[in-house]
Amino acid sequence: MPVTRVRRPRRYLTCEPRFFDVRYAINPWMREDAPVDTALALTQWHGLLRAYRDHGHTVETVAPVPGLPDMVFAANAALVLDGRVLGSRFHAVQRQPESAAYELWFKNAGFDVHEPQAVCEGEGDLVPVGGMILAGTGFRTAIAAHAEAQELFGVPTVGLRLTDPLFYHLDTALFALDEENVAYYPEAFSPGSRAVLRRLFPDAVIATGADAMAFGLNSVSDGRHVFIAPEASGLIAELDRRGYVPVPVDLSELRKAGGGIKCCTQEIRS
Ligand code: ARG
Repeated sequence: MPVTRVRRPRRYLTCEPRFFDVRYAINPWMREDAPVDTALALTQWHGLLRAYRDHGHTVETVAPVPGLPDMVFAANAALVLDGRVLGSRFHAVQRQPESAAYELWFKNAGFDVHEPQAVCEGEGDLVPVGGMILAGTGFRTAIAAHAEAQELFGVPTVGLRLTDPLFYHLDTALFALDEENVAYYPEAFSPGSRAVLRRLFPDAVIATGADAMAFGLNSVSDGRHVFIAPEASGLIAELDRRGYVPVPVDLSELRKAGGGIKCCTQEIRS
């Protein structure tokens, strides 16, 4: 019997890639000499917003700031849970000014923002699922920030160690399908972290290297629809088999900065 997956309407915060570019290289996907087509990035990004709105989600935007080419990656700016906001503290100096720009948006929208003391790249490394926060470390977010998140939200954090620089943020190697389950790429994690994931999610969707390299794990699920990179064909087929509805959205131009669908999307959970 196929399962019927249920969509829950979401509120997403995004940032138009008007000033998107690759001007520095802080992850292995970024090549300073690769030409970037900002107009194409904008068109693709508008396609993502259209897909969210067509599926009944609310999308808001933060004004982009000139000189902050990675600001389009809204996921890294915060984790918002139960209406509480844990802001960001970026590892790379080039991205540090983004925190204040997003913080201002949250304050104007009526949220208090807790500023982390340790390096913390928001939903890039902090993924709420099943009454926990899965918390990545290894390249960006510090373990100390996991404790800050646990203290602020009163939700247990489960630390997971990333070991492959291509998958430098947790959201490049894992995403939440719904409150019960996740999809992930085991090879991106340390052996102990893989064992933790197997224990927590015995029925997880396991992605191949090809799906992970296609940024298929940088997806956003509303519980039913999974907004996913079109090249992640193995993962798309498996999600379909499990009763989810894959919605392909091409963000290939943003991939040049090491970003995809989830990176461009901050979920506001109130
Ligand atoms: N160029 C950005 C960086 O390296 C990409 C961030 C992608 N965001 C994400 N949530 N994975 O920081």
